[in-house]
Amino acid sequence: MTSGTDEAMANEFDTVAGWTAQVAMDLGPDYHVPAACRGSGQPAALDWLLKGLQPTPGDLLIDAGAGVGGPAAYASQWAGLRPILVEPEPDACRASRELFGFPVMQADATRLPLPDGAAGLAWCLGVLCTTTGADAQLAILRELARVVRPGGRIGLLVFLATVTQLDDPPEGNHFPSPAALTAMVGQAGLAVLDRALAADLPRPPADWQERTQAVESELERRHQNHPAWRVAEEQSARIGHLLQQGQLQAQVLLLQRP
Ligand SMILES: C[S@@+](CC[C@H](N)C(=O)[O-])C[C@H]1O[C@@H](n2cnc3c(N)ncnc32)[C@H](O)[C@@H]1O
Repeated sequence: MTSGTDEAMANEFDTVAGWTAQVAMDLGPDYHVPAACRGSGQPAALDWLLKGLQPTPGDLLIDAGAGVGGPAAYASQWAGLRPILVEPEPDACRASRELFGFPVMQADATRLPLPDGAAGLAWCLGVLCTTTGADAQLAILRELARVVRPGGRIGLLVFLATVTQLDDPPEGNHFPSPAALTAMVGQAGLAVLDRALAADLPRPPADWQERTQAVESELERRHQNHPAWRVAEEQSARIGHLLQQGQLQAQVLLLQRP
């Protein structure tokens, strides 16, 4: 049986993911990457991570919890990386295949279907807090540590709770505290090389904002009366409110497997 929480996550990451890809395809290629980054990817956060990952064009990048594939496409366009996507939701997998044509595995990042040391680089953006809790978060960090080679680098984008009791948190999310995240990273055998608050990074350029706004408006026009749209909007409004209140903060982290 599907719980209300599972349903909220499926609405947001599967049904809406499929709609987003359709809108992006209808609006045209200039809209594909910004539309597919609606999950959590902001250009400045992706630039910060790509700089820290120190990629060489042609390197493999494992994207765990890849969503609709926008950040992977950004990494391919701006750093020449070859992304391998892992994502559990079927419509999101289909959406990223249709938009970008990257290899996508439908799987859970707590058990990545990849051999040890499969790549030099990995990232996991906006995913940890959408899992079932601390056990899954630690399992994902351990899997990321396993699939990169020794010396390999890992990027994270995480939403962290700065207070113990959040006002009206979004359903199904489990936000670690900054201290809990640091402890889990250590337990996974990874070292923190650098971290930054997403709020301190530059805002997206005007043309990016115009494109994401156009996608948002078109999604709303087409689907505003659908329950899945209303649930997804409600979830993102709650996260926006918590960020504004300072009860949540988005951090980017650069990790290394020793
Ligand atoms: C906020 S979205 C971020 C998507 C993408 N990383 C981005 O930044 O655009 C969170 C994604 O994590 C995926 N996810 C949730 N639990 C997961 C798990 N256990 N393993 C892998 N992905 C997971 C969801 O299906 C969703 O696509």
